[in-house]
Amino acid sequence: MDTYKLLITGGQPLKGDVEVSGGKNTSVAVIPAALICDEPCVIENMPDIEDVHVLRDILELLGARVSYDDALKRITIDPRGVNDCTVPYRQTRRMRASYYLLGALLARFGEANVGYPGGCAIGNRPFDQHIKGFRALGAEVTESNGMICAKGTMTGAAVYFDRPTVGGTINVMLAAVKAKGNTVLLNAAKEPHVVDLANFLNAMGGRIKGAGTDTIRIRGVESLHGGTYTVIPDQIETGTLMIAAAATRGDVTIHGCIPTHMESLTAKLLEMGVSVTDADDAIRVRPIGAHRAVNIKTQEYPGFPTDLQQPMSALLCMAQGNSLIYETIFESRFKHLSEMRRMGAHVQIMEQTALIEGVPELHGAPVTVTDLRAGAALVVAGLMATGTTEIYEPGLIERGYEHLEEKLRKLGAKIRREPV
Ligand code: EPZ
Repeated sequence: MDTYKLLITGGQPLKGDVEVSGGKNTSVAVIPAALICDEPCVIENMPDIEDVHVLRDILELLGARVSYDDALKRITIDPRGVNDCTVPYRQTRRMRASYYLLGALLARFGEANVGYPGGCAIGNRPFDQHIKGFRALGAEVTESNGMICAKGTMTGAAVYFDRPTVGGTINVMLAAVKAKGNTVLLNAAKEPHVVDLANFLNAMGGRIKGAGTDTIRIRGVESLHGGTYTVIPDQIETGTLMIAAAATRGDVTIHGCIPTHMESLTAKLLEMGVSVTDADDAIRVRPIGAHRAVNIKTQEYPGFPTDLQQPMSALLCMAQGNSLIYETIFESRFKHLSEMRRMGAHVQIMEQTALIEGVPELHGAPVTVTDLRAGAALVVAGLMATGTTEIYEPGLIERGYEHLEEKLRKLGAKIRREPV
């Protein structure tokens, strides 16, 4: 239970400039990757978020020396002292991406014993494809007492994913980077953070080609050296800020982002009648007229990201007309809609589809965060609503958004904390 709640008084158009932070989903892949290197790594543009802090704790438990410079957004990881390949459940339960330690420790030691991951309750979230990949590379994998135990000398192989999986692609890429021989990942995920990890590994001496396509080729190397790397900006934070700007009919320029990563969202906002203009590393969002309802189907990159479905659903609650959201990636990613009903949203959920009937107004109400991006959706709804919205369990939002309250406040939002 969080000791505070967020209070948002809606109706303030967000205006001004905001800098997006480094990517959560790339950082949680690149930090474990530093364990595979033989020398220290310096990673820049690192967001100050809970998931990064958890990984820092885990790496230090394994024997790495980790220092984080919040002002410079820089983390320095010296893996030379790493002498353990076991990560207990009490650590891994704190986040989803803790399972990347399997791939990293398999690459370093040929052995990994890692507790089951935690993470957002948005569906079943199995990791059978990760295990399929490790086995293809020569690992013996067993699961017992809440631990995943993998052991074996990594040997290049072909891995065909039954479905594109970001985590599976990243985890098997980590395990394969120093395997004996060549590996090919087929039906691989193409998300920007998959590409960013491949770029990091290549910068440290890896030989990975094809990241960003559905076929990734990895030539195993003897070792990875250290170095300095800057992670890409957060695609989902960028999208959340774009949606918040549109939702409050403000005028916001988001700096330090990569507009090409945002194309599916930009297209949908333009379809709604929102003005979106790109510069090379900035996106400006302004209203034009009324917001038209649109239909959303979530898909693997470069389709509409499932992580933006939730904040987008808040924006659609006040669009003119009926919107359909078809969530194809996760089984249970509509919990926030039940919360928004209390704010006056007209929504109907039929399994993987939500029908949102636009209403002229939302009104403030007490709501509870159920998962990271549901929290973002409730913040957007609170910014749109007339009156004050109380958001309980907001701590989950800090897992994936760096200083979101402060960024929104600087743009004119009336948002503050209050003890519970
Ligand atoms: C990553 O989760 C992200 N998390 C998620 O973001 C994101 O929603 C998701 O990719 C899709 O883009 C991180 O990067 C830490 P998947 P991941 O493997 O890797 C099924 C956020 O809010 N599947 O691409 O778990 C799975 O159940 C989080 O930042 C298997 O069946 O996603 C899902 O239905 C939430 N077997 C689908 O594939 C497996 O072995 C896609 O999952 C693996 C996945």
